[in-house]
Amino acid sequence: MKPLVYVTRKLPEEIVARLKENYEVDMWSKEDVQVPREVLLEKVQEADALLTVISDRMDEEVFAAGKNLKVVANMAVGYDNIDLDSASRHNVAICNTPDVLTDTTADLAFALLLATARRMIEAAEFVKQGEWKSWSPMLLAGTDVHHKTIGIVGMGKIGTVVAKRAAGFDMEIIYHNRNRHEVAEEMLGARYCSLDELLGEADFVVCLAPLTKETKGMFQREQFQKMKKDAIFINASRGPIVNEEALYEALQAGDIAAAGLDVFNEEPIGADHPLLQLKNVVALPHIGSATKETRIAMMETCCDNLEAIFADRAPKTLVNK
Ligand code: DGY
Repeated sequence: MKPLVYVTRKLPEEIVARLKENYEVDMWSKEDVQVPREVLLEKVQEADALLTVISDRMDEEVFAAGKNLKVVANMAVGYDNIDLDSASRHNVAICNTPDVLTDTTADLAFALLLATARRMIEAAEFVKQGEWKSWSPMLLAGTDVHHKTIGIVGMGKIGTVVAKRAAGFDMEIIYHNRNRHEVAEEMLGARYCSLDELLGEADFVVCLAPLTKETKGMFQREQFQKMKKDAIFINASRGPIVNEEALYEALQAGDIAAAGLDVFNEEPIGADHPLLQLKNVVALPHIGSATKETRIAMMETCCDNLEAIFADRAPKTLVNK
């Protein structure tokens, strides 16, 4: 009998066809609506494998219910939605999708930085709303990116590629990370700083750190107050790293100039959220890795990992060793 894979979002036909070569496939019917918790808890009882997304909370209750569960292939590089200790206690392998999304996510982080600095969303709306009356000297004037200082918090794979993009804009690169990153220092001239030094020096503070016990709530009002008044804050990693109330107050009080956010505490963020009422906030719906090529590559990585596990081979990207 073929192993049963439960897929928690509707995936493209080509991926389903690949899965069907090796498995019985059961799949949640919607692409843009999360699988309800009770459905996940019911489906996991029979499943040998799950293919999940970041909005699926994989905790003790799920792992305890998954009597046959061998592997969870999470379609993301981040796996903060998964209780790894619990997975390991239940002998479930957890795999993620690093590498294939590095460049794409770095592109988006840098695009968000540019869009926020140059007020591109506001400007595009201005044209579409018919508000453009004439060329004028200070119309929608933003701030320069080139030759400024970028402060990268979290110099992992994506951080390093954002630094590469920044080098192309002649930016000075400073970073804060758990460990020194020799390649970024040698190849890109990145300079390691304490978090406080980085906050004080950077024109753009770009958060790319993973969400962990240590990074949760890392950005409070105090951190925003340590930034330059004309600094721009970008978050393209995980919402809970930032205290959103503190960010709102900082933007209102003029502690910093603007923010570009691809991630939020609660996703989707409500349209009536105070942050979304601010003109100097550019908000995106967590689309860091969202290109057709990369999303397909992430799904293929999930398939590769499932195939390895069921063939008793080491998966490419196992998270819980
Ligand atoms: C990730 O991969 O962790 C992203 O946040 C989801 O694409």
